[in-house]
Amino acid sequence: MDKQAAKKRIIELKKVIEKYRYAYHVLDKSLISDEALDSLKKELFDLENQYPEFITSDSPTQRVGGEPLKEFKKVGHEQPMISLNDAFSAEDMNDWLEKLENFLGRKVNSDFYCELKLDGFAVELLYENKILKQASTRGNGLVGEDITQNIKTVEAVPLVLDDSKAKIKIPKKIVVRGEVFVNKKEFERMNKEQEMKGLKPYANPRNIAAGSVRQLDPKITAGRKLDSFEYDIIMPSKDLEKWGITKHEEEHELLKSWGFKINPHNKRVDSLEDIFRLQDYWTGKKRDNLPYEIDGIVVFVNDNKEYERAGVIGKAPRAGIAFKFSPKEATTVIEDIKIQVGRTGVLTPVATLRPVQVAGITITHATLHNFDEIQRLGARIGDTVIVSRAGDVIPKILKVLKDLRPKHTKDFEMPKLCPVDGGKVVKDGVFYKCGNKNCGGVHKEKLYHFVSRGAFNLEGLGPKIIDRFIDEGLINDAADIFTLKEGDILTLERFGKKSAENIVWEVNLKKEISLSKFIYSLGILHIGEETAALLAQNLQPSTRARLGAGLVPHRNKVSGAGFQISKPKDVIRAFEKMTMEDLQELPDVGPKVAQSVYDWFRESRNLKLLQKMEEVGVRIKVSAKGGSASSGKSLKLKGLSFVFTGTLKALERGDAKDKVRELGGDVSESVSKNTSYVVVGAEPGSKAEKAERLGIRTINEKEFIAMLR
Ligand code: IVH
Repeated sequence: MDKQAAKKRIIELKKVIEKYRYAYHVLDKSLISDEALDSLKKELFDLENQYPEFITSDSPTQRVGGEPLKEFKKVGHEQPMISLNDAFSAEDMNDWLEKLENFLGRKVNSDFYCELKLDGFAVELLYENKILKQASTRGNGLVGEDITQNIKTVEAVPLVLDDSKAKIKIPKKIVVRGEVFVNKKEFERMNKEQEMKGLKPYANPRNIAAGSVRQLDPKITAGRKLDSFEYDIIMPSKDLEKWGITKHEEEHELLKSWGFKINPHNKRVDSLEDIFRLQDYWTGKKRDNLPYEIDGIVVFVNDNKEYERAGVIGKAPRAGIAFKFSPKEATTVIEDIKIQVGRTGVLTPVATLRPVQVAGITITHATLHNFDEIQRLGARIGDTVIVSRAGDVIPKILKVLKDLRPKHTKDFEMPKLCPVDGGKVVKDGVFYKCGNKNCGGVHKEKLYHFVSRGAFNLEGLGPKIIDRFIDEGLINDAADIFTLKEGDILTLERFGKKSAENIVWEVNLKKEISLSKFIYSLGILHIGEETAALLAQNLQPSTRARLGAGLVPHRNKVSGAGFQISKPKDVIRAFEKMTMEDLQELPDVGPKVAQSVYDWFRESRNLKLLQKMEEVGVRIKVSAKGGSASSGKSLKLKGLSFVFTGTLKALERGDAKDKVRELGGDVSESVSKNTSYVVVGAEPGSKAEKAERLGIRTINEKEFIAMLR
């Protein structure tokens, strides 16, 4: 090819390669295979080799990296490269907004721009006449290091800009900022490479990005596939307003029109609640499915003037904040290791953990799978451990921090007898099983019965869910149901926030139960609903008064409890007092039934269960008159605090408040962290807003009335 033809071909190749690069990185469209693109690059490379006089600094071949540097040149920044303050909770975000509004002396108009916070390395890019002239690190904020050669190897960063389709033409000199990062695949690949070389793996993608752009040899940077999104225009800043750009969001659009790669997930929202929703949306699966790591949401007041007016405090803008995700890993303590018996009778050790927030939810349990796993981890009760949770994955204990082991830790031992039915435990491969073949089946049937309509009537906790809870180690016996935490349920696949919330709500609501239903729920052989009711009637002082009035045959001489039954332990006391004869004196109780009840209350496993129920807060309903009652008024709203806002339709506000008090609840005039529910009627006031802001549950009138039933 002659010189002239080569020159023409080089120009064409550069254009085409740039077109495909732009489509891939900026538009997220792959128009050509990697192989075909490599082949075009190779042709360009060969031609430039032949005619080096045609090599330009914006040629795609210049991305491979030049000669190693001895040191980085220092570069002054046009404007200080500042950072962001962090927020870790809704409360932090509320504080941020409140302080900002106090400073501005007025409400911030409901307009925020939210960006995904990339786990990478900040860079500043200088373009002159649309050509990338210089790239620099933050350094100390005022002076950074020249990393131009390295950044040129990052395909996502344009070497040349194109404003042919842009509404605003690119001025002679522009300065933009963005983030350079490695995606998850590249991170994994590099860590495998490290492993193969016998070197220590990198801790996180940010370290790789930082390490890569600060390599004196740009070829090393080129060998690592780095990516980038740009997010800020630093220069010209004054012209922005002249061009009609008054929002941060519009700056992003302008950057895109000039050929920069902008994150498509960035989004304008108009309230703090929307920011919380966005944070929720990106927590978990959605975040895991992104090809790169993010560690939060960057939130800006969208209006540039307002943003400027708020100014800088310390090293961060007042009108911007990084709303960080709760970390995917955390440390906690193994408080106990319990045995959970699955539906097939397999015994699984499950760690009870000191409650800890992992990836936005509170975790209290982690399965240890089997005995071998405990040994592999070297875990003991009392140990400090690292737990992790990625997306919907069940929490996992990654590591025991042996340096933090206290003096008195306890070794875990597999029990010799099954905790469910006392059967002999046998080893089966890595698993331990109850030797009694029916164990698992009987166990789950007992739990189905416990939650059934005639018993605790835990709506929404059907057999399928019980099965999953058993298998995942969340529950082992009936009392465990009352310790279920939203966070534990959320870790199971297909459980959304709403369903987890509903289960916990339902369980708490039904903790109080009539004596007859309680007795029925225990699943004592031969005790159906009617017999349970009969036993209950004969144990309660209030009913005994009625018995005395001749409502039952006079042959009934059962003494009953002789005290008020309000707790599971009272039930133990009452039944322990009863002899076989006492029991048989009850109407319709023959020797078989009496024996069954008598035996049940003398089996230590059963008594332990009742004690555990007491500990987890199960209570027997006590009527307003003082006696235990199977149908008396309950104190079902005890411990709950309500705030009302707006107009109620079916109830007078005063009546609604009285109902809450009658059922043991509290009413308050203002919303606080201690509020359990805000009941929202028509045309609600600011209380509803405040509730949303604080993450307090709001319910409508219908839901409120349902709670009273
Ligand atoms: S905007 C005033 N947007 O997070 C600084 N920063 O913790 C404005 N970061 O220094 C920066 N993703 O290095 C912005 N989408 C994003 C970001 C982002 C990551 C980094 C950036 C910044 C640091 C602050």
